[in-house]
Amino acid sequence: MTLELDLRDLAIDIAREAGALAHRRREEGVAIAASKSTLADIVTEADREVEALIRARLAAERPGDGFLGEESGGGAGESGVTWVVDPIDGTVNYAFGQPSYGVSIAAVTGPADPGGWRLEAGAVVAPALGEVYSAARGHGAFLGERRLAVTEEAPAGALVATGFGYDPATHAATLDEIRGVMPLARDLRRAGAASLDLAFVAAGRLDAYFERGLKPWDLAAGALLVAEAGGRVGWLDADAWGRTMMIAAAEHAYDALAAALRPGATSRAQV
Ligand code: IPD
Repeated sequence: MTLELDLRDLAIDIAREAGALAHRRREEGVAIAASKSTLADIVTEADREVEALIRARLAAERPGDGFLGEESGGGAGESGVTWVVDPIDGTVNYAFGQPSYGVSIAAVTGPADPGGWRLEAGAVVAPALGEVYSAARGHGAFLGERRLAVTEEAPAGALVATGFGYDPATHAATLDEIRGVMPLARDLRRAGAASLDLAFVAAGRLDAYFERGLKPWDLAAGALLVAEAGGRVGWLDADAWGRTMMIAAAEHAYDALAAALRPGATSRAQV
């Protein structure tokens, strides 16, 4: 087994366990513990508990690795591998009983700054859908045992997903961008969990997805799923890793979407 496959299998095991815990806690009833930056940016006790479980399991299995989690932060380790974790992605959906939420666990190597990361492996578990997505660099992306591939063409327009991000100052620009994208799209979705939007691009359930302001834990595992399913992942303008607009799309949809979002912008492929 190579390192990426070992990391992927560990990510799958722990994400399954974490997903089962999240699911159980939701059956028991969810209370919003706090609003962070805005009313949409919330945390529940389950987010914290699930992240603690993931962190403890990783520390027990691979004590030398670094950790970066949405709820508890973290830091680098000595092994060169860092785990990037969103314990419950789509927390608003989770709190409102909707099915689109996921546990996202990725393993990256490289420097502390996300701009230089290399995605090695990842898993996204969607407990309410009973789905387990996984990928390892160079070994493909899977839904359970089924190998995934992005869509090959969208003759009547692409099915595109987006998200609004948490910074209200960017919402007007996002609405303008949506206006630019609609004429070339079959339709638009905003399901509320970035990791699953990305998993759905990998699975061919969407042709493309774009969102600005995503954090590393929202996108790390999902970006690898898209890349390993044959899609393209990039950022508009020079900066990367969530600080600008991310696009993840099948090859046939990427350039048209980038042009509609920001005519003349240069796109930097990252994954
Ligand atoms: C959020 C979801 C949402 C996206 C936000 C994310 P969270 O993650 O992925 O779809 O629009 O940008 O922050 O906060 O629920 O883990």
